[in-house]
Amino acid sequence: MISYSKFLTLSAALALVAISPQLGAEPATFATRVAPVLEKNCTGCHGENKQKGGLRLDTFAHVMRGSDDRVVVKAGDFSTSELHRRIILPASDEDVMPSDGKPLLSSADIALLEKWIAAGAPATEPFDAPALARLPITSSAAPDYRPRLAAATALAQKLGVRLVPRSIVPTDGLILRTASAPTQCTDAVLAQLAPVADLIVEAELARTKITDAGLASLALCPNLQILDLTQTAVTAQGLGALHLLKNLGVLNLTNTAADKTTAASLKNLPSLHRLWLFGTPADPVIAKPAAAVVK
Ligand code: HEC
Repeated sequence: MISYSKFLTLSAALALVAISPQLGAEPATFATRVAPVLEKNCTGCHGENKQKGGLRLDTFAHVMRGSDDRVVVKAGDFSTSELHRRIILPASDEDVMPSDGKPLLSSADIALLEKWIAAGAPATEPFDAPALARLPITSSAAPDYRPRLAAATALAQKLGVRLVPRSIVPTDGLILRTASAPTQCTDAVLAQLAPVADLIVEAELARTKITDAGLASLALCPNLQILDLTQTAVTAQGLGALHLLKNLGVLNLTNTAADKTTAASLKNLPSLHRLWLFGTPADPVIAKPAAAVVK
């Protein structure tokens, strides 16, 4: 694992790459920007499995429905929205969300939720939000995608997923996107992406149907740097396959079965600088006795 200061130096050196225009950049919508913030920070307690306070935040309809007691998002006015009041409280306030000492939302995430609510809390319409800061490419480049882009795009389309260039730099690789239909992405789909495995630098696989067999396919993507496996059925044992990913820098295992042993072994990945383990058996908050976390 590289040190934080070394990462900063690398980031600075590669800032040019990070700010180059993004071909694959998508407009900010509830699905592309708001839902991921709620999923990362809230749905562990306000989702399918738990509905603390009688509130679910895992779909647009649930967010707008509110809790058993009240509407929590008032479209057009964040200052009177209960959801907003809860996320701007100081950590010491007993009403603050996320509760139980979980990390509070970043100011960027709060600003994003404010922009969305101020825009009328649209379900699918884009709203005005700052572009997502892409993490810089931190290691070896992928092969030039230009000669293979048309074939890769066609293959992805056939499989019901998307492969989009990460930037206009032809060696920045392709992003595997599944968010518009995550359940269509299965182990078989990942296996069939083998011809373009070397071009994939980022794989967005949250809520897909992939299991350990899919992890074995991912382990054959030598240039994979960013991987999101949020809420997938991968097992602690299957995650061991990821030790082959020498370029993996960012790994999101929120709400998976990753345990302490997985976490310890993944932390040895040479390029890893961010690992998310919220809602897993490796998460110190969840691992507390149930009585201590249930309110
Ligand atoms: C660790 C569990 C946990 C997490 C994570 C969590 N909450 Fe909560 N939340 C609760 C509990 C418990 C309650 C009920 C007690 C209360 O109202 O404080 C609650 C209540 C709420 C309420 C009030 C519902 C009502 O009308 O009474 C809102 C709004 C809320 N949460 C928003 C959020 C948001 C937004 C996030 C993510 C940024 C979040 N919560 C993350 C546990 C959690």
